[in-house]
Amino acid sequence: MAKNIIIDTDPGQDDAVALLLALASPQELNVLGITAVAGNVPLALTQRNARVVCEVAGKRDVPVFAGCDAPLNRRLVTAEHVHGKTGLDGADLPDPTMPLQDQHAVDFIIETLRREPSGTVTLCPLGPLTNIATAFQRAPDIVERVQEIVLMGGAYFEVGNITPAAEFNIYVDPEAAREVFASGVTLTMMPLDVTHKALTSKARIDAFRTLATEVGDACVGWLEFYERFDEDKYGTDGGPLHDPNVIAYLLQPDIYEGRHINVEVETGSELTMGMTVADWWGVTDREANALFIGDLNAEGFYALLAERLARL
Ligand code: BDR
Ligand code: CA
Repeated sequence: MAKNIIIDTDPGQDDAVALLLALASPQELNVLGITAVAGNVPLALTQRNARVVCEVAGKRDVPVFAGCDAPLNRRLVTAEHVHGKTGLDGADLPDPTMPLQDQHAVDFIIETLRREPSGTVTLCPLGPLTNIATAFQRAPDIVERVQEIVLMGGAYFEVGNITPAAEFNIYVDPEAAREVFASGVTLTMMPLDVTHKALTSKARIDAFRTLATEVGDACVGWLEFYERFDEDKYGTDGGPLHDPNVIAYLLQPDIYEGRHINVEVETGSELTMGMTVADWWGVTDREANALFIGDLNAEGFYALLAERLARL
């Protein structure tokens, strides 16, 4: 039976590819809804972009909800310098015509977790954790009903991408992240340590070009736009494709490796704000609260993407 998931996202080109991968995999994943959050760009754009992606995928029936427009108690930091003004620069796509749902994303998350049998809904956060933490704060009864959380966020050996210490999704709303990591829900994280091993390359992007479909062309445009920033920054040939790792992990966990460890989120120090302090070597007696993924079979990951996107 397909796994029920809610994708919480701030598209973002890599979020867009993650959404496509999930929407292309209905046998394994039942996308109950897509909840947008402010992150890479403001909420007005992330909810729009989520609908653009559904339409490119030909999945206009997947409900899209708008959630929180700012972190729990900070001003929003965005990443247009990476993703462009729209958040989805690189492909020229029409404005969406499918509706945005009236219900607030946080209410949708709460209602869905209360309605579905306990332990049957997985949360897939691909952006700052504001919607998820807000839902947990407002409805503590739903926390134990979550099957698991598989998220993109954090960094340890790979250090930060928005500050020297912090990864973007955690940095934008560290208080929300801290709450989610402390929730007790079974949690798997895809930090920069693994996503920086999932680099695009000319051959990998060409595999999308070869599809010769609207979806393939959109991916080529997005990835060619978005990889430039990281190629310049890191001096690599290709850029990391972060968020699709969350969905790929649900589809093919055997291509990933990690350790169950303790991960705490820094919320006090301005210098290291949003750092995910990962006890990789087990030097504390703090209880493990996350499966920290550190490695993947990148060929397997890109093969999965090309094979699934061909289905759309
Ligand atoms: C994360 O931040 C965003 O820019 C990407 O979409 C990804 O979720 C990587 O740090
Ligand atoms: Ca994202």
